[in-house]
Amino acid sequence: MSEIAVYKVPESVAANTFCTEGQYRDLYKQSINDPIAFWSEQKNCVDWFRDPQIIKNTSFSGEVSIKWFEDGELNVSYNCIDRHLPSRANEIALIWEGDNPAESAKVTYGELAREVNRFANVLKSLGVKKGDRVTMYMPMILETTYAMLACARIGAVHSIVFGGFSPDAVASRLDDCQSSFIITADEGLRGGRKVPLKANVDAAIVELAASTGRSVDTVLVVRRTGADIAMTKGRDVWYHDVSQDVSDHCDPEPMKAEDPLFILYTSGSTGKPKGVLHTTGGYLVWVTMTFKYIFDYKPGEVYWCSADVGWITGHSYIVYGPLSNGATSLVFEGVPNYPDASRFWNVIDNFKVNIFYTAPTAIRALMREGEDFVKATDRSSLRLLGSVGEPINPEAWNWYYTVVGEGRCPIVDTWWQTETGGVLISPLPGATPLKPGSATRPFFGVKPALVDADGNILDGATEGNLVLMDSWPGQMRTVYGDHERFIQTYFSSYKGLYFTGDGCRRDEDGYYWITGRVDDVINVSGHRMGTAEVESALVAHEDVSEAAVVGYPHDIKGQGIFAYVTCKAGVEPTDQLRSDLVKWVRKEIGPIASPDVILFAPGLPKTRSGKIMRRILRKIAENDTDSLGDTSTLADPSVVDDLIRTYRVAT
Ligand code: WTA
Repeated sequence: MSEIAVYKVPESVAANTFCTEGQYRDLYKQSINDPIAFWSEQKNCVDWFRDPQIIKNTSFSGEVSIKWFEDGELNVSYNCIDRHLPSRANEIALIWEGDNPAESAKVTYGELAREVNRFANVLKSLGVKKGDRVTMYMPMILETTYAMLACARIGAVHSIVFGGFSPDAVASRLDDCQSSFIITADEGLRGGRKVPLKANVDAAIVELAASTGRSVDTVLVVRRTGADIAMTKGRDVWYHDVSQDVSDHCDPEPMKAEDPLFILYTSGSTGKPKGVLHTTGGYLVWVTMTFKYIFDYKPGEVYWCSADVGWITGHSYIVYGPLSNGATSLVFEGVPNYPDASRFWNVIDNFKVNIFYTAPTAIRALMREGEDFVKATDRSSLRLLGSVGEPINPEAWNWYYTVVGEGRCPIVDTWWQTETGGVLISPLPGATPLKPGSATRPFFGVKPALVDADGNILDGATEGNLVLMDSWPGQMRTVYGDHERFIQTYFSSYKGLYFTGDGCRRDEDGYYWITGRVDDVINVSGHRMGTAEVESALVAHEDVSEAAVVGYPHDIKGQGIFAYVTCKAGVEPTDQLRSDLVKWVRKEIGPIASPDVILFAPGLPKTRSGKIMRRILRKIAENDTDSLGDTSTLADPSVVDDLIRTYRVAT
C-alpha cells in the first residue's frame, strides 16, 4: 500500500476552511459518542417553525423505524428561499446554461421567491394538495427547480422521472405512487437533439390506462422549445397560460419533520424499481450540512454540479443542499461534449465557477478527447473538484487533479446512494489528506463497518461488505407503499445493520475504498441499473425465451451491459434480431439500458435447482475464462463450453 500517493491538505486550504483535521476528529467523535447532543446542535443549520425536542428515534431491527426530529416543523422551500431574502435577495441563486451555449440566465433569490410562489399557486389552482404525488418528467430548465420547490412549499410530494426514461417507465412509476398529476415540457434539448417529453407523457398515459385502467387528471406543460405538440382538452394545460393571473405570494405550509418530501425511483437487484421515500427535516439537515462541509462553500462562490435533477445527486446537490445554504448553483441543460469537448471548461470560465462536481464517466470520456480541449481554457476560478456515482479509477483521478485542477484543487470523492439522501463517506477539503481512488472517511454521524458473508464485523485493514451500523438524518424512511420490501432489501442480509449493496476495502489509515456493487445492480455511466430489469424487458420480447444480464468492465462507462439471450425454438438468432432487441430495451426502459453486447446463447449455465450461475456469466463477459471456479454443481456443465465458444466466435 505504501506506493499510493497521499496528497496532504494544502496550507492555503487549511487556513480558510470550516473544518480542519483536528476539528473533524473532535466533531466526528462527538457525533458517534453522543449523537443526541451532536444533532441537537447541528439541526440548527436549518430554520424550524417549531423546534424539535425529540432528536432521534430509530431502530434497524424488527419493523425498522426511522424518525429524526419528529416533533419539529419546518418547510424546505422556506429554508431554500425565504430565510435568505433579508440578506441575499439580490444575490444569484441559480445560473442556467442552456444546451445551446448562446443561451443562459441568472436568477436572484428575490426572483426565485417570486417564481416559486407563483408556481406553488398554479399547483394549488389546479387542485394539488398537501400529500399529493406530483410526477415530474422534465428537462434541465429553471422551471424544474421552481416546480420542485413549489411542491415542497405546499407539501406535495414530487416524484421526478429522469427525462431519458421511456413512456413505459413513466407509466409504471405513475402507477406505483398512484400519481395523477404530471409536470412536463413540450420537448427537452440535449446535445443539440430534441427529446419528445410531452409525446412520451402522452404515450405513458395510454400505457397506464391499458395496463391498469388508471387515468391522469392533469398534465402541466412548460414551454421549452416551442414545438407543436398535441394538447388534450380538459387534461393538458400550458404553464404560461395558467400562471398569468396567479399571485406572487403563497405561504409555506408548515410540515412535520417526518412528512414526505419526495419519492425517487431507483433500481435494485430484484424486480421493479423501488420508490425511495425521503422526508422533510432529517433530509434537509443532512443535505444542508454535507453541502456546507464537503464543498466548504463560502458566500459568493459559484458552485456547479453537472448531474441531472432526475437523479438523487441533482435533488440533493443542485437544488436542496446549495439553496438551503444560500449558494449560487449552476443548472446545466447540456452534455459534456457538445458543441465540443471543451464545454465544461468553457462554462466554468464564463461563470467563474469555483466548485465543480461531476462523475467519473464524464471525466473518462473527456480524458479520451485529449488535454488540448482543457488547456484551451483558463479554469483559474476553480478551487475544488468533486466526484460521485461510481468508484473513480486512479488514472481518471490523476487527470482530473493535474490537468483539470492543475494540481491546485483538492478532489472530494463522495460516496453515497439514492437511499442515503446525501453523502456519507467523503474527504473534507480542509481536513482530509487525499488518496486517489478512496472516498476516505465517514462524515459526521456515519458509522460504517465491513462484514463478512456471515455478518461478522471485521476489524482493522480488511475487505468486506459495507454496512452502516446506525441511522443518520438523511436516510430514506421506507420504500413507498411497501415497508416490507424496505426491511427485506436493506435490513435482512445482516441483522440490525443497513446493507449498502457495495463491497469495500478499509486500509491501515481507516480510509474506505469502495470496490463496487456486490449485488445484481450494475453501474453504467454512473447510472444504476438492475440486471433483473433489463432481463425482464428482454424476455418480454416475443422471440426471447430466456435472458441473463451481467456487467462487464467498460473503458468509459465503468460498466457495460452484457446480455445473454436464448431465443425461442425456431427463431434464428440474426444480427437483425440483435438490433431489434436493443431497440426493444430502449423502448421498454430507455436509452440508458441499451445492452452493449448481446450474445445469443443456446443455453444458460444453471444449478440443478434451476438458478442461473451469474458468477460464470460475469467471468465469460469479462473474458476471464481461466478462473471459472467450480462448475460441478451445474445441471449441464457442457453449456459453459458452448458459451465460451460462442463468445470467441462473436468477439
Ligand atoms: C456507487 C448516486 C464509489 C455505489 C449518488 C453506490 C460510488 C451507488 C460512489 C449508488 C463513489 C456512488 N465511489 N462508488 N464516490 N458514489 N457510488 O443511488 O455503488 O445512483 O451504491 O446514487 O453508486 O448509486 P445512486
